[in-house]
Amino acid sequence: MRLLIVGAGYVGITIGVVLSETHHVTLLDVDKSRVDMINQGICPIHEEGLPDLLKSAVSNEKMRAILPNNSIGQQDVILICVGTPSNTDGSVNLSYIMNSIDLIFQKINELLSDYMIIGIKSTVPPGTTRTLILNRISELGINPGSIGVIFNPEFLREGRALYDAQKPDRIVIGAADKKAADIVQKMYETSLTHQTKFVKMSIESAELCKYVSNSFLATKISFANEMANIVENVSNADIEEIMLGVGLDSRIAPSFLASGAGYGGSCFPKDIDGLIHIAENDYKIEVPILRAIKSVNSFRPDKLVNMLLKANQNISGKKIAVLGLAYKPGTDDTRESPSLKVIKLLLDLNAEVWVHDPLALKMKLNSEFSSMIKISDNLEACLKDACACILVTAWNIYEQTGLDTLTKFMKDKIFIDGRRIFSRSEIPDNLIYYTIGRKWQ
Ligand code: UDX
Ligand code: UDX
Repeated sequence: MRLLIVGAGYVGITIGVVLSETHHVTLLDVDKSRVDMINQGICPIHEEGLPDLLKSAVSNEKMRAILPNNSIGQQDVILICVGTPSNTDGSVNLSYIMNSIDLIFQKINELLSDYMIIGIKSTVPPGTTRTLILNRISELGINPGSIGVIFNPEFLREGRALYDAQKPDRIVIGAADKKAADIVQKMYETSLTHQTKFVKMSIESAELCKYVSNSFLATKISFANEMANIVENVSNADIEEIMLGVGLDSRIAPSFLASGAGYGGSCFPKDIDGLIHIAENDYKIEVPILRAIKSVNSFRPDKLVNMLLKANQNISGKKIAVLGLAYKPGTDDTRESPSLKVIKLLLDLNAEVWVHDPLALKMKLNSEFSSMIKISDNLEACLKDACACILVTAWNIYEQTGLDTLTKFMKDKIFIDGRRIFSRSEIPDNLIYYTIGRKWQ
């Protein structure tokens, strides 16, 4: 099949690479540098395993990237994968989606053969796909039998994007008609080597399915964090032991029960805000659970800084090391990273903040305080003479380095482990070590 993917971000590139196994993929993006990189076989995002596959897809002419003003040619399936960020009031900003749909309909005569599918993969509020695409088709007087319309959410995780795209637990297809849903199923089946469950539903159910999945995962995390707050008051209790006992109940499942610095990234915070806004503003209903998930999460960075202040009241003018800037290990993405809030709180307390991240040099930190901190990929330089350290992202390198070495050149031995990566037996005697979900020493 000939596939056009609009938006060469995490989702667009990853899905494009996977589908280029058996299809011809064109990635369309407004960012010229991104388009140039892809056409040179260079992957513009950090994702394990992706660079090699992208390089060979481009060199085998199974994948190419273009700008909006380039000609495209006839397509069988178009998937829109541009971002849907939050507006300041929490509502979903659909402007990139609308630009993409405008572009497709401007070029419709060039793109359309006998039958073509237009679908959205980006997370959008229920009703968006029908309003923006199906209604447009009828307004323009296009034969509705010539275009199938789908909403096909993507559940991949950054850092594991290739694995998730190649071996998805399920593929959800929301479609207005059976023909479109069957073609999209076939499109995936021919590229995936792994047997996957296909779940077909209405377009609106599929749109909500993405919000509900992300909300449930965020619920598990905030729930685990709230339980950790309780556990910290009980001598000899440990949240990790407790969640192991809890998660092995097959009705609960063990994943996404890790307490820590809270969730960040480009999806959970924006999707929780989006669903709250949809419920409260569009449907006028209260969503106390979603509000609680958000509230519990928003206090996680404060908690880490409060732990530090319990160990040392006065950090003004002192060097504090922050380990990890990415919102989770395995990615160079800092969007909504809990680390950013930790850094801001430390700067408000006049601390001298040094930040380490193994992918530091690749990071784009568009933050108001970029110039006020020192970011480095040199772990030793970051920790040397520090008066305390807060670990926010659970990069493997921290666990591999070990507490002894990490704290060796610190001035004051205070270590706040915001991701619980060390066990009790690894804590050196001379270290003040506070962590999540275990009574502080
Ligand atoms: C995706 C989804 O689309 C989002 O709705 C979902 O919630 C998370 O995953 P992501 O792949 O992370 O977003 O987006 P991002 O990495 O920000 O990339 C978006 C790409 O679209 C960028 O390369 C950007 O240049 C491009 N873009 C944006 C366009 O090509 N056209 C536009 O009008 C806007
Ligand atoms: C998430 C969803 O998992 C994915 O299905 C969807 O398509 C996009 O949003 P992503 O944001 O890439 O994926 O990463 P994820 O692994 O879900 O982690 C999100 C955040 O939750 C990270 O900050 C992570 O550190 C945090 N987290 C995750 C926890 O704090 N505890 C956990 O147990 C799991």
